[in-house]
Amino acid sequence: MIQKRLKLAATIAVIFMASNSINAQGNKSSLKKTFNNDFLIGTAMDAAQIEEKEPNAAKLIPQQFNAVTPENIMKAEIIHPAWDKYNFDLADKLVAYGEKYAIKINAHNLIWHSQLPAFVKGIKSTDSIKIFFENHIKTVASRYDGKVYSWDVVNEALNEDGTLRNSIFLQKLGPDYVTEAFRLAQQASPHAQLYYNDYNIEEPKKRAGAISLIKKIQAAGVKIDGIGIQGHWHLGKVPFKNIEESIEEFSKLGIKVMFTELDISVLPSPFDHNTADVNAKAQNNIKMNPYPNGLPDSVQLVLTNDYISLFKIFLKHKDVISRVTFWGVNDTQSWLNDWPIPGRTDYPLIFDRKFQPKEAYYKLIELAKHKK
Ligand code: G3I
Repeated sequence: MIQKRLKLAATIAVIFMASNSINAQGNKSSLKKTFNNDFLIGTAMDAAQIEEKEPNAAKLIPQQFNAVTPENIMKAEIIHPAWDKYNFDLADKLVAYGEKYAIKINAHNLIWHSQLPAFVKGIKSTDSIKIFFENHIKTVASRYDGKVYSWDVVNEALNEDGTLRNSIFLQKLGPDYVTEAFRLAQQASPHAQLYYNDYNIEEPKKRAGAISLIKKIQAAGVKIDGIGIQGHWHLGKVPFKNIEESIEEFSKLGIKVMFTELDISVLPSPFDHNTADVNAKAQNNIKMNPYPNGLPDSVQLVLTNDYISLFKIFLKHKDVISRVTFWGVNDTQSWLNDWPIPGRTDYPLIFDRKFQPKEAYYKLIELAKHKK
C-alpha cells in the first residue's frame, strides 16, 4: 500500500516537473518574429538577467525580444558613482549580451533628475554641475558609441503642465540644458539614435511641452531622432485617444515614436492622476493589494482587451513607430510590485510569474499575424 502511494507520488512529481518544463520551453511563437515587419519588441533587463543568472529569462529574452533597455544599471548613480569614478562593468556585459544575441540596446539614460549619484546632490556651484553634466555625457556616451543602438538622452524633464521640471539641471544650467545634452550626446556618440523619453506625454498639456522641447532642439540644428512615450498605464484607463493623437502629432515633427516602458497596472492607484514619478509614495493596506494570490479571470480579460486595443493602435501606425518595449520580462520583475506602495502583487506584463505567456500574449501574436 505504502509502496503504491510512493509510486503514485513519484509519478505525480514527474508529470508536474515535465509540465513545468514544457511550459517554460514549449511556447514556439515569438513576439520579435511575429512583429518583425512592424516594429522592434523590447524588454527592460535587470542586473541578474544581464548576467544570465535567471535560466527562464535567459531562455525567453533572446526568443521573444530584439531590443533591450537596462532597467537601472546605466543610470548615473550606478554608472558614475563618484566624481572621477565610473563603473562600466554591467553596461559592458550588456553590450556583450546584445552582440551575442543580435539584440539592439537602448541605453537608459544620460540626463535624469532622479537616481543621481550622492555626490551630485552635494554640489553647490553652477560650474561644478556644468562640469559633471559635460563629463558624464562625454564619458559615458563616447564609451558606447557604435555599441549601443540608441540613447535616452534626457529623461522626464517635463512637469504635467508642460513646463520644465525644476530639476538641479534647470536651476543651475537654465532652460537650454535639454538642447545642450543632445548636442553633447551627438558629439560623443555620433552613431547612436538620440531620444527624449518621458511619461504622460500623451496627455495634451505635457504633450505640448514635449513638442516645444523637440522644436527647440531642432531649431538649434541639434539632432533628435525620436521620442519615447513611456506607457505606464492603468487597467481600464489606458488613454487610447490621447495615445493615437500623440503618435500623429509627434511623428509630424519628423521623428520616430516609441513606447519605451510599457506596463498596465491592475492594482488600485492611491492617486487621482496618472504618474510614474519614482518619488511618489503611499501606504499599503488590504484594499490596495486585492490579488495577492492570483489574478481573477475577469480582471485578466480586461488586461487582455487593453493590450489588444493598444496594439491595434500601434499596428495602425507602424510606419512611424520604431519600438515597443515592455518594462520588465515578467510580473515578478515589475517595479509596480513596490511602487508607489511597497510589497504589493501586480500583474502588468504579458508573461506571468512563472514566465508563462498570458492570454494577452497570444492575442497580440494573433493580431500581428492577421494584420499581415
Ligand atoms: O539594488 C538595490 C539593492 O542593493 C538595495 O538593497 C535595494 C533596497 O531598496 O535597492 C536596490 O535598488 C533599487 C533598484 O530599483 C534595483 O532594484 C532601488 O531602491 C529602486 O529605487 C530602483 O527602482 C527603479 C526606479 O526606476 C528608480 O531608478 C526601478 O527598478 C525601475 O523600474 C524604475 O524605472 C523608471 C525608469 O528608469 C524611468 N521611468 C519610470 C520608471 C519606473 O519608475
